[in-house]
Amino acid sequence: MKVEMHGAVRDIRAAWFEDGELKLIDQRRLPHSLEIVSTTDWRLATTLIRDMAVRGAPAIGIVAAYAMALAARSGADIAEAAAFVKGARPTAYDLFYAVDSMVAAISAGEDPAAAADAYAETIIGKCSQIGRFGAPLIKDGMKVMTHCNAGALATGDWGTALAPMRVAKNEGRRFFVYVSETRPRLQGMQLTAWELLQEGIDHAIIPDGASARYLADGVGLVITGADRIAANGDFANKIGTFDKAVLARHFGVPFYVAAPISTFDFNAPDGRAIPIEHRAEEEVLCMAGMRLAPEGSHALNPSFDVTPGDLVTGFITEKGVFAPHDLDKMQS
Ligand code: MRU
Repeated sequence: MKVEMHGAVRDIRAAWFEDGELKLIDQRRLPHSLEIVSTTDWRLATTLIRDMAVRGAPAIGIVAAYAMALAARSGADIAEAAAFVKGARPTAYDLFYAVDSMVAAISAGEDPAAAADAYAETIIGKCSQIGRFGAPLIKDGMKVMTHCNAGALATGDWGTALAPMRVAKNEGRRFFVYVSETRPRLQGMQLTAWELLQEGIDHAIIPDGASARYLADGVGLVITGADRIAANGDFANKIGTFDKAVLARHFGVPFYVAAPISTFDFNAPDGRAIPIEHRAEEEVLCMAGMRLAPEGSHALNPSFDVTPGDLVTGFITEKGVFAPHDLDKMQS
């Protein structure tokens, strides 16, 4: 992704390895400042995932791969490191997929840093294919809706839900994106809007509660990412995704999910097997560090919801677009 840093335009990724160090954009600081965090400590890398300096399923996987490379380099016990890194967050399947891929590579005697770089390149390549397969869904003049952030910050370069938008824009089509703010952590307002601005894609931030209003009024396509997709097409994504899928079905708007194979958990038969992260109630009760709720009130803060697969028109993957009942064909 191209960003302006210290007065010059640079092409950077959400996370990368340089001179033996993991570097990543601290997404907690965006859009106000672009800060790069560096570490050689695999435990700290895990904490950066847990504290959401980096977030979004494929980006979590990439940083987990680098955390494993750092662990191998430091001589840590690989099984112990794998268990620790996997404990960072429970829902994004990419975390588990990446750690298992790295354990296999390290056990096979591969150079850990090279294996982590290869992992990142593979995922980024898959996201580019998602862009290629998804772009034809975006027609000239269309209004598109997305939720949370499934862009370059959440992956490597292209994004998942935003990849088709990047390609459609490069192909010269004009379209408009409704970005739901994504309470309580505001990934839509702070991250997706920032990315679309860098890309010159027309958009507006809407309150999460305004989705029905706009889906009833000319939205032609909804695209979201996913954190974990079960074998039957049920999928976990940022809280509020389920609402949009139900509304999209009500208004007859096609609803697509964009994700690489690393997000598909074929061992989970359906959505009931997906573990859902519940985060601190302060995220809901407070805004910008100030408690707005009355003292004595409590909040519930499920970070993800599970949308039934039958509400999904298609899954946009690196292998093409699949209907929910055709997901088994993806594995061939
Ligand atoms: O809690 P987050 O910000 O990690 O949640 C991210 C999402 O829900 C994204 O939509 C999902 O990971 C897809 S990212 C390409």
